[in-house]
Amino acid sequence: MRRLLVLALAFALFGGCAVANPAPSVPQATPTPTASTPSVTPTPTPTPTATPTPTPTPTPTPTGPPTDTRKGAELDKPFEVNGIIVVSPKHAITKKYVPKTVKPNGLTAATQAAIEKMVKAAKKDGVTIKVRSGYRSYSEQAAILKRKIIEYGDEAKARRYNAEAGKSEHQTGLAVDLWDGKVWGDAVKDTKIGKWLWKHAREYGFILRYPPGKEKITGYTYEPWHYRYIGTDDSLNFEPNTDLTLEEYLGID
Ligand code: DAL
Ligand code: ZN
Repeated sequence: MRRLLVLALAFALFGGCAVANPAPSVPQATPTPTASTPSVTPTPTPTPTATPTPTPTPTPTPTGPPTDTRKGAELDKPFEVNGIIVVSPKHAITKKYVPKTVKPNGLTAATQAAIEKMVKAAKKDGVTIKVRSGYRSYSEQAAILKRKIIEYGDEAKARRYNAEAGKSEHQTGLAVDLWDGKVWGDAVKDTKIGKWLWKHAREYGFILRYPPGKEKITGYTYEPWHYRYIGTDDSLNFEPNTDLTLEEYLGID
């Protein structure tokens, strides 16, 4: 009986309650290291560009042909267009205008240098150029016209070939009368030198200043001997043997 009690007691203590086998410990999952999220460079907020203020297009001032506005003492200097001196019946100068010139023809230094170059080149082509007239002062020009009027016995005709004082390019030291030393007058156009010059003078900075058929524009009749130095930058814009006048080229009266 006593033995039963012990057994019952033992059962009560241990039998009914399962000796717990300790549950295997579940390994804690090692957290997978999360790949470090790359730092995202923030897209810069575009700086608003300033809207350019449109530059107002200037309303072009209508420009007419260059005009000669000289008056008073300003007439002591010649009318100039784009750096080119213009002396003509419409653009006179006073006796006070005396350019700086060099020997032996009284031309400006640049004109004299160009003449020498041209004379040399013509010589190579078998053409001998001679200078008949270069610089003429205001008073010399006045005397020439006076003499020619008497010589021709026809003032109108004399004026077609000879300028009044103050209206001759010869007073600028930029003009020359060229010939072969024998044939003078209108016949120069048919001489070797007259033909050579009309074709080649442009290459040395000269232009035929009074071409045929342009008397109304230039104020003077055809003068196949009268050449005007303007420099090659401009003279090369004139075609060989052209009847283009300086007035037409410059767009002036
Ligand atoms: N023979 C030109 C026109 C002058 O006298 O200047
Ligand atoms: Zn002349």
